[in-house]
Amino acid sequence: MNILITGGSGFIGSHLCRRLLGLGHDVLAVDNFFSSTRHNVHDLLADPHFELLRHDVTFPLYVEVDQIYHLACPASPVHYQRDPVQTTKTCVLGSINMLGLAKRVGAPILLSSTSEVYGDPTVHPQVESYWGNVNPIGTRSCYDEGKRCAETLFIDYHRQHALPVKVARIFNTYGPRMVPDDGRVISSFVVQALRAQPLTVYGDGSQTRSFCYIDDLVEGLIALMNSPAAVTGPVNLGNPGEFTMIELAEKVLACTGSGSPIEYRALPADDPARRRPDITLARELLGWQPTVRLDEGLERTVGYFRRTLAAPAPATAPAPATAPSTETATRGGSVAPSRPL
Ligand SMILES: NC(=O)c1ccc[n+]([C@@H]2O[C@H](COP(=O)([O-])OP(=O)(O)OC[C@H]3O[C@@H](n4cnc5c(N)ncnc54)[C@H](O)[C@@H]3O)[C@@H](O)[C@H]2O)c1
Repeated sequence: MNILITGGSGFIGSHLCRRLLGLGHDVLAVDNFFSSTRHNVHDLLADPHFELLRHDVTFPLYVEVDQIYHLACPASPVHYQRDPVQTTKTCVLGSINMLGLAKRVGAPILLSSTSEVYGDPTVHPQVESYWGNVNPIGTRSCYDEGKRCAETLFIDYHRQHALPVKVARIFNTYGPRMVPDDGRVISSFVVQALRAQPLTVYGDGSQTRSFCYIDDLVEGLIALMNSPAAVTGPVNLGNPGEFTMIELAEKVLACTGSGSPIEYRALPADDPARRRPDITLARELLGWQPTVRLDEGLERTVGYFRRTLAAPAPATAPAPATAPSTETATRGGSVAPSRPL
């Protein structure tokens, strides 16, 4: 198949590109490099089955494809809060444009939505039937509400135009090729530990998150995309293992062998207290569940960052990070400006 991946040079997109190429597909990655660099996919550029196109999804796109994974959107608050209006435009106009493309070519389209649609949840663990607890006017709203509106658009295109859509609600995902200084908690802790800097924990560190290794997530996305047409989602994709930030910090210290101290900072606004997916639906509908334990995934991620931090900087730099944060606002803390990936 010819498969379009918007946000194809981002963290998740670049892994998905590799996996789909490995499965024998042709992949067109579209990206405006708002929160990534070409470096993530530069080793794929020589592959005749891979193509990279610089394009902003807030503008229409005319290509002929068989499937669309719509991932384009900055995922870390450091990135999505840098230009909140653009973030909402990417979520809303980007989805309208990609849904229009899917309708024109008759291609199934998958949305990478987020656990952030649950906001600061009052139901635990989070099930897909829970409508969420989201502040519509906070500094995170451009992302949370943008994704909620994107979900609305996807489901309405299905109801109104019988378009085959798939909505994945992704929980915290981690692994190689995360940007080291975009404030996501795992990359922040790992980089801080490797640099012998203090690990910054926000609040008292008792807030919880669940962490899914990237390879598991990619398999879940592909399983959802290729599920029967009746399966539209939303479907939670994440690892139900739940850890406090203190537990995570201790695991990172053990894994890196670092003696870094833990430094506490004030908890930011709207930081969800608990986050854990109920993945019953994914198990039943897709036969999918994560297989990589946090300790194992951390080993691989630490290995990646050790190599990356030791390597010379590439020519292209990612967008500069401006404030500490994480994808789900479990503040893992800021890290000192680093060599770009
Ligand atoms: N990583 C996670 O833990 C996580 C959790 C929940 C949801 N998601 C979702 O998964 C998707 C990918 O996340 P990621 O972690 O790879 O983030 P990322 O920031 O690494 O990747 C997003 C990619 O989209 C591109 N992009 C942003 N705006 C664009 C635009 N207007 N036009 C074209 N490209 C644009 C960026 O340059 C980047 O390459 C996002 O939609 C995100 O909301 C991620």
